[in-house]
Amino acid sequence: MDTRTPAGTVAEAVRAAVEAAVHAPSVHNTQPWSFTVTGEEISLRADRDRLLPVADPAGRQMLISCGAALLDVRIALHALGYTPEVRLLPDPDRPSLLARVRPRPGPAPDEAARALYGQVERRRTHRGGFTEEAVPEALADALVREAGMEGARLTPVRSGPAVRLLGAITNAAQEAQSQDRLFTLELIRWSRPPGSTRRDGVVAEAYPSTPPHTHPQRFAQRDYAHGHGWGGEAGDPAANATGLVAVLTTAGDTPEDWLAAGQALQRVLLHASAHGVHAAFHTQALEMPELREFLRHQVCSGEHPQMIMRLGRVPREGVSVRRPAAEMVEER
Ligand SMILES: Cc1cc2nc3c(=O)[nH]c(=O)nc-3n(C[C@H](O)[C@H](O)[C@H](O)COP(=O)(O)O)c2cc1C
Repeated sequence: MDTRTPAGTVAEAVRAAVEAAVHAPSVHNTQPWSFTVTGEEISLRADRDRLLPVADPAGRQMLISCGAALLDVRIALHALGYTPEVRLLPDPDRPSLLARVRPRPGPAPDEAARALYGQVERRRTHRGGFTEEAVPEALADALVREAGMEGARLTPVRSGPAVRLLGAITNAAQEAQSQDRLFTLELIRWSRPPGSTRRDGVVAEAYPSTPPHTHPQRFAQRDYAHGHGWGGEAGDPAANATGLVAVLTTAGDTPEDWLAAGQALQRVLLHASAHGVHAAFHTQALEMPELREFLRHQVCSGEHPQMIMRLGRVPREGVSVRRPAAEMVEER
């Protein structure tokens, strides 16, 4: 028998929602968010101390990351029987206050909500090739619908020339960034050597010691090992497929659009993960305004590219770390 009081239940749901949020993906695992819990209300803020000034001066990727965290809050509340009432960017004078969320009594959670919630802690970023098993068409279509539910567009890139163009631009951006001192220093700040006890940044177990080559199209990885030989095994001969390349775009390019892109991203990733499909990201070119603009017109039909990813099945699941939720939550 459930002996919890209704109030206790809401408080527990709020706590579970914040705990889910911290598992969201974030650029370089910066975890650029903080939460305030006031009674039953959760406030989500961008933690600007964790902004990447070189790669992300406008905070676009920071807000995509926070959008993903917001989706986790919403999914957790749904799965626990509440309807989240969300006010996005509620105070124009405080742009870092991204959302206020209140749980309202909701319908019993359906299987879809529970399935997504079940993936929140399991989903991991992949940084290598995929097995030869293709992403089923029906799943790709479902992922497109999931992104659309959040006001963003996921486009699987199926034409060979377009995939080659995206790969070539990614490889060029990676090369340019690796020759740029400021980009390199910023990446070093967030990549962790083996044995690091830090709970943020990209840990050595999560990146390959040398960038893997995927076939038929190579997509350069960020060089988290930066010549130290750190990192895990460099690829798996049984899994070097490029996978399904996809771009996530939005019609506009405002903070609202970035939050929508983040929520769409996380909905896509959780749904994919529930079907055994993982994602690898290659967002280097989107950090270089000229290349981003080029891709916008050449590959994205004029929409603003927010994420470039490859999707597929992995030989083994990845690892990551998180700061404990208590470090990022203030209770009032
Ligand atoms: C906006 C954004 C951009 C990202 N860009 C990259 C990327 O270019 N390369 C990469 O390997 N991972 C990228 N990631 C994935 C993060 O590194 C990853 O989410 C973080 O390290 C936490 O690990 P996890 O996703 O396995 O939990 C990106 C994530 C976000 C949200």
